[in-house]
Amino acid sequence: MRPLVAIIDLAAILHNYALAGRCAPGRRAFAVVKANAYGHGVREVVTALHQVADGFAVASLEEAAEVRAMHGEARILLLEGCFEASEYPIAAQLGLDLVVQNAAQAKALLASELSRPLNVWLKLDSGMHRLGFDAAALRDWHARLQGAEQVAELNLLSHFACADERGHPLTEQQVERFLELLELDFAQRSLANSAAVLTVPAAHMDWLRPGIMLYGATPFADLSAGELGLKPSMTLAARIIAVREVAAGESVGYGAAWVAARPSRIATVSCGYADGYPRHAPSGTPVLVEGRRAPLAGRVSMDMLAVDITDLPEAGIDSPVELWGANLPVDEVAQACGSIGYELLTKVTARVPRRYIG
Ligand SMILES: Cc1ncc(COP(=O)(O)O)c(C=O)c1O
Repeated sequence: MRPLVAIIDLAAILHNYALAGRCAPGRRAFAVVKANAYGHGVREVVTALHQVADGFAVASLEEAAEVRAMHGEARILLLEGCFEASEYPIAAQLGLDLVVQNAAQAKALLASELSRPLNVWLKLDSGMHRLGFDAAALRDWHARLQGAEQVAELNLLSHFACADERGHPLTEQQVERFLELLELDFAQRSLANSAAVLTVPAAHMDWLRPGIMLYGATPFADLSAGELGLKPSMTLAARIIAVREVAAGESVGYGAAWVAARPSRIATVSCGYADGYPRHAPSGTPVLVEGRRAPLAGRVSMDMLAVDITDLPEAGIDSPVELWGANLPVDEVAQACGSIGYELLTKVTARVPRRYIG
């Protein structure tokens, strides 16, 4: 068997969910499990959180149906709402909580014949300018949806653009715009993503929406997951499958992009960009070999990558390699690649077997 596995620590995810709860005592939370639970496997993550999570949040009806099949009771929030008219009756059958983020969606909802009314979350565009109503339109739709036969609870939701940059002025402005609308009658309110759960108590409201923190990565550039008390939930583990001695001046890999500055030992590792490891990771990106750091050398191939193990004489064929995880924060690898932990975790491809522990 090819030596590459994503080891998923479900106990870590439970720990991280509990941490979100401790940040905002008494509030409920939608565990965000879209994109296959940020690459971790939605079935296993929802099963692990079954007893403790108040709800789950997803990005499509298909994702919602998958969660509903595993959990008959939980509230399931459709974060972008329905994409076409035919989806509203299905959302009602599935008993979803539905975001309504523009006039077309609101009209389609009011035109739908539903088997039961839906919990509706009107989305305020409080400053991100991606989805949502401006304040005036939201007031208008609040009046039109309240009491409509398609609507059970009428709720308010918004999303931060910059909560990950602590102290960013837009965050405070977004909270203020949200608070201004609370003079309207809403049953429930939700504003906080992971960054706000961790650092913006004024945004906690009734329902949290933690995503990345559940998976043990940080939403912040300047505050590590470890400092936040988060436990990493995915370890991408491979092995060395070949070793060679490379003379000074010789190159390694595609494009001959890395050239040995000294006589070097180069390890070939069983992980490549078709597994989700970023192809644009530069030489020098840290990799753990036998628990010790070594630099990536040259371009990442489809199924393999090369590491300079000249300074690790104990490493050889079959040595364990951690691309990120329990001992090498995914955020650090992401930063070396000019990306974020979110992207690395969600891009681990289907061919990488997931092994569950915890
Ligand atoms: C609307 C919404 N809420 C919550 C989240 C969770 O965000 P995070 O993973 O930063 O906690 C997301 C993720 O993109 C989102 O789109």
